[in-house]
Amino acid sequence: MAVEILPSGPLQGVVRLPGDKSISHRYAILAALAEGATRIRNYSSGADCASTLGALRALGVPIERQASELTITGRGLEALRAPERMIDAGNSGSTIRMLSGVLAAQPFTSRIGGDASLSRRPMDRIISPLSEMGAVIRAREGRFPPLEIEGRPLRPIAYSLPVASAQVKTCVLLAGLFAQGRTTVIEPVPTRDHTEIALREFGADVDIEGRRISVEGPARLRPGEFCVPGDLSSAAFFLVAATLVPGSRVRLERVGLNPTRAALLDFLASMGARIRVLGLEQAHGEPVGDLDVEHAPVRGGRIEGALTAALIDEIPVLAVLGAAGSEGLEVRDAAELRVKETDRIASVAENLRRMGVRVETRHDGFIVPGNQQFKGAEVDSFGDHRIAMAFAVAALAARGPSRILNAEAAAVSYPEFFDTLQSLRS
Ligand code: S3P
Repeated sequence: MAVEILPSGPLQGVVRLPGDKSISHRYAILAALAEGATRIRNYSSGADCASTLGALRALGVPIERQASELTITGRGLEALRAPERMIDAGNSGSTIRMLSGVLAAQPFTSRIGGDASLSRRPMDRIISPLSEMGAVIRAREGRFPPLEIEGRPLRPIAYSLPVASAQVKTCVLLAGLFAQGRTTVIEPVPTRDHTEIALREFGADVDIEGRRISVEGPARLRPGEFCVPGDLSSAAFFLVAATLVPGSRVRLERVGLNPTRAALLDFLASMGARIRVLGLEQAHGEPVGDLDVEHAPVRGGRIEGALTAALIDEIPVLAVLGAAGSEGLEVRDAAELRVKETDRIASVAENLRRMGVRVETRHDGFIVPGNQQFKGAEVDSFGDHRIAMAFAVAALAARGPSRILNAEAAAVSYPEFFDTLQSLRS
């Protein structure tokens, strides 16, 4: 599907975002392992989170869904049953990596794979720790999906993550729920801590000392009632769009503002964006608030080191903002971008160039000089949801009409994105 986007007048209105993708996956998996029925409201409408539900159903977990409301009935850690066929994780790296931690501990063998993009993403990062814990895992070429996971009784380990990855951290901690004793993960830099927060909410014994996170197994998880905050990474597209388009003013309601994700707001503010946080409160250990954003001229910035990990999903849309700012954007230490849903360094650079914007790429980042104008162009999502949405935002600020090819990819995290964007245009 191609979507045509014309240059935009002011964006105005109020947006209710889909539930946070990261938190939705975690609540669903933990609910499936808890002892009783968990209710989840505002579960992400994205295809990725539906993949997690499909996988849990394939493992015998009863799930009732009505729009964004779910009831998941867990029967404890030992109640999953062997899937009849290969589990389909679709496009979702979170589903395959996190769930593998659970599959590694089962008294059966399972196979899990996904679409063409997922099949190119590295899984050795989870195969190593899970093998150390005792599971037997086979993969295509030793590191790519599909995976065949022979579950085993697991032993606890202390594991230093070689890459900053919340997905790998989560995989090991979930496996640790099943191991006898204390499983520890040591992070090189902080990554999103939704797993730690959710584990505690479900009653697991979690210990955090700086960048060492431990969980005690075997765990007993209690069910609960949860409401998923709006997805800040989806909000990012509107934060940048409203900042870029003169006259815009948008309110984003009930957005998750966990500090491990909200570096985005500080970074945007440092570029000159005008964003106000209102009505801050806590929901199940996660900070939530409304965001008011209005148009402002922006400067630029540099993303490197720990900040790169904190902004990893927002870098495509920040590249768009950087080009329009007076000082541009430099991104370093971001080799991880090369193994996301697409090689995001390559797909960002390709689309920027199609829109007449100069960019210089490096093996682990890129430099976009500032003060550049977007021209209307045909760009491509390359099947990557965040690339589709980032370049829809660029198209709003372009000098002529643009077309986003393969725009349906947005549905991986935000099926309503184009409709919501349209509703803000005056
Ligand atoms: C996620 C972690 C990040 C992020 C992904 C979701 C999560 O991946 O890019 O969209 O929910 O834990 P990595 O942990 O592999 O960097």
